[in-house]
Amino acid sequence: MPAKVLLLAGSVRSGSFNVSLAQAANKVLAEMGAETTMISLGDYPLPLVDEDLKSEKGVPENAVRLARLFAAHDGLFIASPEYNSSIPPLLKNAIDWVSLAPKDIKAYAGLTVALGAASNGALGGIRGLYHLRSVLMNVGAQIVTEQAGISRAATAFGEDGLPADERQLKMLQNTCRSLLENLTEGRARS
Ligand code: FNR
Repeated sequence: MPAKVLLLAGSVRSGSFNVSLAQAANKVLAEMGAETTMISLGDYPLPLVDEDLKSEKGVPENAVRLARLFAAHDGLFIASPEYNSSIPPLLKNAIDWVSLAPKDIKAYAGLTVALGAASNGALGGIRGLYHLRSVLMNVGAQIVTEQAGISRAATAFGEDGLPADERQLKMLQNTCRSLLENLTEGRARS
């Protein structure tokens, strides 16, 4: 059975560099034999996490849908922007809501996650990934060591959608390979 990998970006901005990075990872993972699904968080609008809201109305349906999607995949690739050296609120809010979904949905347990970041800056937004890594570890996911930082992102992607720079492409390929090598056997595949 091929590995099932979900991909998402922590941005819904038109022309988002991180959507481009997620698309590039999608291509690399598919070439490596994975069965991939790419989603936009824009299709899962959520209110800001609020425990009163949860008490009154329960976990929003979109958070439950996301949790079920996470549970139905072996791996997750997240391409996240860096906002002031940390996680963009769109992504943190989604991660938090999913962590509040009913516990019988195994959204995070055994989920292997690979991270990437794209920014027009010189560091590619990788400082934010330390925080993202920590949050995902806290909810029970396992995160691969390799990560892909795409700097100077406005001009980084070639016509084929992949990073044009050899070093950046290798980094993305290594990150995707590590994701596939570190999946939990039997999680979503049957
Ligand atoms: C940013 N941006 C940014 N970039 C960076 O490299 N390091 C940073 O700390 C920040 N901080 C930051 C804070 C806020 C509030 C915003 C809105 C933006 C710039 C950011 O990387 C840039 O807008 C990216 O293009 C966002 O990713 P997408 O939307 O292109 O995927």
